[in-house]
Amino acid sequence: MRILGIETSCDDTCAAVVEIKRNRDFKILSNVVSSQVKLHAKYGGVFPSLAKREHQKNLPFVVKKALSKAKNPKIDLIAVTSGPGLEPCLWTGINFAKDLAEKMKLPVVPINHIEAHILANIIDKKSKLHFPALCLVVSGGHTQIILMKGISQYKILGETRDDAAGECFDKTARILGLGYPGGPIISKTAKKLKKREMKIILPRPMIHQKNYDFSFSGLKTAVLYDFKKRSLKTKKSQQYIQEMCAEIQQTIIDVLIKKTLKAARDYKVKSVILSGGVAANNELRKQFQSAIKNQHLKIIISLPAKNLCTDNAAMVAAAGFFNQQKHWKEIKANANLKIDGKL
Ligand code: KG4
Ligand code: ZN
Repeated sequence: MRILGIETSCDDTCAAVVEIKRNRDFKILSNVVSSQVKLHAKYGGVFPSLAKREHQKNLPFVVKKALSKAKNPKIDLIAVTSGPGLEPCLWTGINFAKDLAEKMKLPVVPINHIEAHILANIIDKKSKLHFPALCLVVSGGHTQIILMKGISQYKILGETRDDAAGECFDKTARILGLGYPGGPIISKTAKKLKKREMKIILPRPMIHQKNYDFSFSGLKTAVLYDFKKRSLKTKKSQQYIQEMCAEIQQTIIDVLIKKTLKAARDYKVKSVILSGGVAANNELRKQFQSAIKNQHLKIIISLPAKNLCTDNAAMVAAAGFFNQQKHWKEIKANANLKIDGKL
């Protein structure tokens, strides 16, 4: 079957066509992402009403492009993100999907954005996922540790009490005057660092606590204080900026790995599944793999392709496959939709 996925929960307008073969092989026929990054960069974050307007403007073209890139195949189902996310943006996608479904006489299913991020791991994997699994979802809006006993069986074990990991990257990059989105910029800047000379050390919030929760707002404040106390000359120096970026990235990585692997051990899982925009971070991917090896853990790590970590509609289409049996008459946006709650 072929599924058209539509994703507009934040600042990317996305549409994709995914084909699912009988043996459950997922093949991406098209995956179109129209980013609003340039527009929101001015504000250092996403401006919801502006994002909604852009989605409305872009969606017809993005969907058309996704269909034509896939060579206009027969579509069997439309899958659309219904939450969590920015409510005005979610409604734009839902209304568009419903209209299109009526025109094309197709069923439409609502998709949980977090589940879609997790299921991105299924798309380009020849092997199937190994359960029980522990999912770390790290994006601009979420940082959650989720126990996954199987497809559609999720339990949130812990989450951030304040800022998400991606949000922390974005906000600290803004403090340093580096632009938006912060994650890729901080990662690129940190890579340029040759030697640590200033020995900047940031706090690792909640790293030793027994729970699986996170807190990143203190880290942002620590960066702000450090930045404020520096001289103008230091603030502008490459050494300071690069060293600060390296330390921000390492702090976030340390906390994420420590907490995730603790949960993985406690719940004796077979695999750890990474997802969300922050999972595109090279250092995080590398260090997760070495931590599992160094700690002699018999855990398989699953990392989606980088373009499937950040927001996209191929993951929404894939999630549509596993939610196709649901018959939805009334699809509503739910900005705070939980993965282990009811849709
Ligand atoms: O999953 P995503 O595209 O959108 C949400 O659902 O929020 O995640 C976006 C977040 C942003 O905060 C961005 O800074 C972060 O993911 N991000 C990264 C990287 N690429 C994107 N963070 C760290 N390293 C990266 N390479
Ligand atoms: Zn996302």
